[in-house]
Amino acid sequence: MFAPLARLLAREQQAFLARNRRGWGNHLARIRDFLGAGLDRTDPERPVLMLGAGSGLEIPWSHAPRGTVGWDADPLSRARTLLRHGRWAPWIFGDITGAFEALRAAAERSARESWSGKRRRSEIARKRLAAILPSLPADPATLRAWIEQHRPGTILAANFLGQLAPLAQRVVERAFAPEVPWENDPEASDPLAEALEQWTERVVQELLKELDQSGSELWLVHDRAVLEATPDLELGPFVPEWKAQLRGLDRLEAWDPLCGVDVVTAMAGRSPLCQSRWLWPVGPGQIHLVEALAFGTKTF
Ligand SMILES: C[S@@+](CC[C@H](N)C(=O)[O-])C[C@H]1O[C@@H](n2cnc3c(N)ncnc32)[C@H](O)[C@@H]1O
Repeated sequence: MFAPLARLLAREQQAFLARNRRGWGNHLARIRDFLGAGLDRTDPERPVLMLGAGSGLEIPWSHAPRGTVGWDADPLSRARTLLRHGRWAPWIFGDITGAFEALRAAAERSARESWSGKRRRSEIARKRLAAILPSLPADPATLRAWIEQHRPGTILAANFLGQLAPLAQRVVERAFAPEVPWENDPEASDPLAEALEQWTERVVQELLKELDQSGSELWLVHDRAVLEATPDLELGPFVPEWKAQLRGLDRLEAWDPLCGVDVVTAMAGRSPLCQSRWLWPVGPGQIHLVEALAFGTKTF
């Protein structure tokens, strides 16, 4: 198991749970309803896999059939689920994407000379990492192997897909600390930030490809966008293009945690079972657009 990622995620989850959750009621009710609906229709003969299971704040484990497997890299996630739900579920601890260890190693190799351990000049380190990123592997081999071995009837992804971009940034920042690896000037281009965004895009795409090829029924919920909070912001009826659903914005100020990947398009070969989005006021001035998409099984 990739220990630095585990530590990082344990801290992130701690911070997530410590946040002021006033205003989260609607989000928690909707995400639990969505995941509960997926768990209620699972095939009793086949395994169920819950990706990004975390501490189960968002997951109605009482709906999960016995034997449902949780997967999370946070080493405390299983014990926290036991405390919250009284369920000691079978668990996989590790990176779902299989890509973070190579990212961490590349970031550290770029930040320091391997022979002397001396820190490289920031500019040189940033250029090196930006040049290496396109060649790093992004193959979710462990996930594929698990799916091939267990043939799950249903896979649920419980709000972890949108975490990959901030996590990747944090991994690079740690390797470069105390230097900040990003360009200061908002007008200037930042080749490292762009290369990392492309790395994340590849990782998300590979993951979705793997999920699509699993043939399993899929219940996917994730942050679709982080929006600037404005009083008139509202959502119109669901349309596949998420930006077209937003109302009440003069201009769109949004950050896309999926780095341009569109989940609806990635699953175009499947029939949708359920599609919805809602606004989640995560904290003061910060609104997430959450996307919940379920797709029927796929045969090959
Ligand atoms: C926003 S939290 C979701 C919380 C969770 N659904 C719950 O109900 O508590 C994201 C979760 O995804 C996990 N995660 C993020 N990236 C991961 C990765 N690459 N591999 C494994 N787990 C990951 C984190 O540890 C965290 O528990």
